Amino acid sequence: MQETLVLIKPDGVKRQLSGEILSRYERKGLVIKALKLLQVPRELAEEHYAEHKDKPFFGELVDFITSGPVLAFVLAGENAIVSVRALNGATNPVDAAPGSIRGDYALTMDSNVVHASDSPESAAREVHLWFPEYK
Ligand code: PPS
Repeated sequence: MQETLVLIKPDGVKRQLSGEILSRYERKGLVIKALKLLQVPRELAEEHYAEHKDKPFFGELVDFITSGPVLAFVLAGENAIVSVRALNGATNPVDAAPGSIRGDYALTMDSNVVHASDSPESAAREVHLWFPEYK
């Protein structure tokens, strides 16, 4: 059993896609273990994206994730990390297959609706960062 941290970003929450997106994960068989809607503090956003702090788009990334409410949740299941990333589709919506979340609902990289942990190490770090009270 694996766990992964998923965010529905401000664009997805604002467009009222949360129910539709959660339902895709649940229909796949993934189980919601923790969930909260929050306005992301800047410090949390900077910590979350710390590995990208030297990238030219770091400021935009932090501005965007703090621009409105985010739905954060932990999903559990066999191979949860890879399964969620497959459901999400490629990071750049231009490359995301139709039928995936980004393939169906996103046009550009700077508002690509969802985030999900990309490895067991980042999942452990991100679950702890977003849900310090969990476990
Ligand atoms: S990289 O450069 O390969 O490390 O980037 P990647 O891992 O694909 O993406 C990391 C997150 O940064 C976002 N991203 C961008 N945002 C705005 N502008 C540009 N140019 C850009 N490039 C990447 C991307 O959506 C990823 O966000 P998360 O929340 O992790 O999905």
